[in-house]
Amino acid sequence: MHSILVAPSILACDFGHLHQEIHRVETAGADWLHLDVMDGHFVDNISFGPSFVDAAAAVAKVPVDTHLMISRPDHYLPRFLKSSHNITIHIEADCDVTATLQAIRASGRSCGLSLRPGTPFSAVAPHLDAIDLLLVMTVEPGFGGQAFQTDMLHKIREAAQLRSEKNLSYRIEVDGGITVSTAGHCIDAGADTLVAGTSVFRAPDMSAAITEIRCAKKS
Ligand code: DX5
Ligand code: ZN
Repeated sequence: MHSILVAPSILACDFGHLHQEIHRVETAGADWLHLDVMDGHFVDNISFGPSFVDAAAAVAKVPVDTHLMISRPDHYLPRFLKSSHNITIHIEADCDVTATLQAIRASGRSCGLSLRPGTPFSAVAPHLDAIDLLLVMTVEPGFGGQAFQTDMLHKIREAAQLRSEKNLSYRIEVDGGITVSTAGHCIDAGADTLVAGTSVFRAPDMSAAITEIRCAKKS
């Protein structure tokens, strides 16, 4: 249904050379740029805020996919709208999720919804007809470089099954521990958008890594 996209997370890049790193990953074939915003409250880490997203977006040629791991996405939303093509919020955030998703869409951006590994799929099910993207976390959000949690694959399958049953069209994005090997399992389960930080930015051949992740289907 959707083509397979690779969205490298710049959390794993060299922030001291942000522009060069974005150029490098785009030249290597990145489809989207994934930006992980962390507030030190929703997750146990602080990454960067709206000014950094603006700086990245100013040089990015591919769509900017902003992942808000923050407690109050509703409050900070206006500051991320300018530079983001897609904005993903968490179902566990301390806000009115329905209203915040609607506000993202009303601004002309596409809206995504994500869930932590410990949150059951049933929590996001009521929102599926109101989103453009479902982001399945396959690590506990907050840090790059963690191991992929295989027991999250069932959420991808459920998301794909419900999308088909309800005739919906949201993308199914996966985030955390994506490598050539784990990407194949995700694509087989129904994922079409793969976030990858460490395995792309630390790869000896970035272009090969992106291509291999995109083509990793196993079956
Ligand atoms: C984790 C972030 C991820 C992270 C992925 O909270 O949402 O996007 O950067 O990094 P890797 O690919 O290294 O697991
Ligand atoms: Zn992310």
